[in-house]
Amino acid sequence: MPLRPSLVAPLFAALILGCNGSGGATSATTGEGESGTAQGSTTGDASTGSTGAETSGTSVGDDEPSVTYFRDVKPILDQRCANCHRTGDIAPFALENYQQASMWGPILVPEIEDKTMPPWGPDADCNSYLHDPSLSDLEIATIAEWVDIGMPEGDPENEPPKADPPPPIDYDIELAGVPFSPTIYPDEYRCFLLDWPALSDRYVTALNIVPGERSIVHHVIAYVIPSAEVDTYAALDDADPLPGYECYGGPGGEEVPRAQWLGAWAPGALGGELPEGTGIRVAPGSKVVVQIHYHPVAGAEPDLSVVQLRTAAMVEHPAYLLPLANPLWMLGVVEMTIPAGESDVRHTFEVDLPSAIDYLHNDAEFGLDEPVQLSMAGLHMHKLGTRASLSVKRGDGGEQCLVSVPRWDFNWQGVYEFETPLIVDPSDSVFLECHFNNQAGEGTVAWGDGTEDEMCLGIVYVSAL
Ligand code: HEC
Repeated sequence: MPLRPSLVAPLFAALILGCNGSGGATSATTGEGESGTAQGSTTGDASTGSTGAETSGTSVGDDEPSVTYFRDVKPILDQRCANCHRTGDIAPFALENYQQASMWGPILVPEIEDKTMPPWGPDADCNSYLHDPSLSDLEIATIAEWVDIGMPEGDPENEPPKADPPPPIDYDIELAGVPFSPTIYPDEYRCFLLDWPALSDRYVTALNIVPGERSIVHHVIAYVIPSAEVDTYAALDDADPLPGYECYGGPGGEEVPRAQWLGAWAPGALGGELPEGTGIRVAPGSKVVVQIHYHPVAGAEPDLSVVQLRTAAMVEHPAYLLPLANPLWMLGVVEMTIPAGESDVRHTFEVDLPSAIDYLHNDAEFGLDEPVQLSMAGLHMHKLGTRASLSVKRGDGGEQCLVSVPRWDFNWQGVYEFETPLIVDPSDSVFLECHFNNQAGEGTVAWGDGTEDEMCLGIVYVSAL
């Protein structure tokens, strides 16, 4: 995994900065040393502030520097970073207090300036999304300036009040497997086949994952397995002596994945509610496969993650989280090949939604000639993927971008909810484009579920009008 070396270098850099505050050559280290001794006092900060040109030596008494931790930086870190960068969570260091923020400050700036952090794949030029955690240009500039002027702490009194948290969601179903300790480094993908408790049709209207051991649960995808296909998955489960079974690009099972997506979750996820009035039907006798991507760390406790679902007996707009890909790739009739030595292999697929729904689900709620609403989209490839996009091609020749991920990262995939849902007519089609790099590969890679295979999948949330 390339993540580890890239992580280690800045960690070391920051540790060195943190330890020899006076030895470093950057202006940031000076500020850190001073503010560290002036914890909680405003006089100390005024002297730190005087190192910043912005204050032009006019600071007197309790005048604050142009940017301070408590007034300007903490609110951003709390809102955009600390949901992962907190003790015991998935990120490698915490950003919860002044000491931590000033210790890591210098290495935060390059990551936020090139938009690596917070992790968020979709290109803002393509579409706008709800729950977009990206920092604004102003927020990026604020943190950069704070580091530049020596990371003054400022007065805790000046911390702006926090926004009220959103009202809690009333989940009515909880699914959990048995405790599991991943042992495959650096990544282990495990699928758990869980019983679905409801005895009549239910519509899932919100989904959340509560990781049991936060430090190792990187990413979760939940799938509904229809009763007719449960045996295939039960066989996979039985064949593996440990809890659950190994899986990778999907829940395993058959060649043509009819396994319906229920939702995807990553640490720090915001939201969890499906678009208002919509829900995904789960029939009695179904099972749920929960695929957990683990990043094992030494000393972690066994994980028992819980899937929380809010369900309703009826919804106004039944919906599917549809995987879109060329069925001929999956069947091997048309090979989705990625030859070794090629650095940019492109695969595309175009489909109209009513036929995709008909092919996968044959559901009377969705007529072949009916428009549908699209309100979320995502993409799925494995590790050779470099970029991908999904768009609607209008019958009249227009085109609308749904989601585009210019720097594909298998670790941070998601399904993103549009700020503005759109209606797709039967004369429109959905166009999927994936790019792969197999330059360093030894052999041709083709469609499949495994680590050595690839996929090119669009995921769309479609609801009946
Ligand atoms: C969704 C969880 C999440 C959020 C939100 C998040 N991070 Fe991270 N961050 C991680 C993880 C996990 C890593 C370890 C590397 C990786 O897996 O990409 C990391 C690594 C880093 C690194 C080290 C980079 C490296 O080279 O490995 C920096 C710096 C960083 N984060 C800063 C931030 C800042 C600043 C914010 C907020 C603006 C933020 N992160 C928000 C999860 C998160």
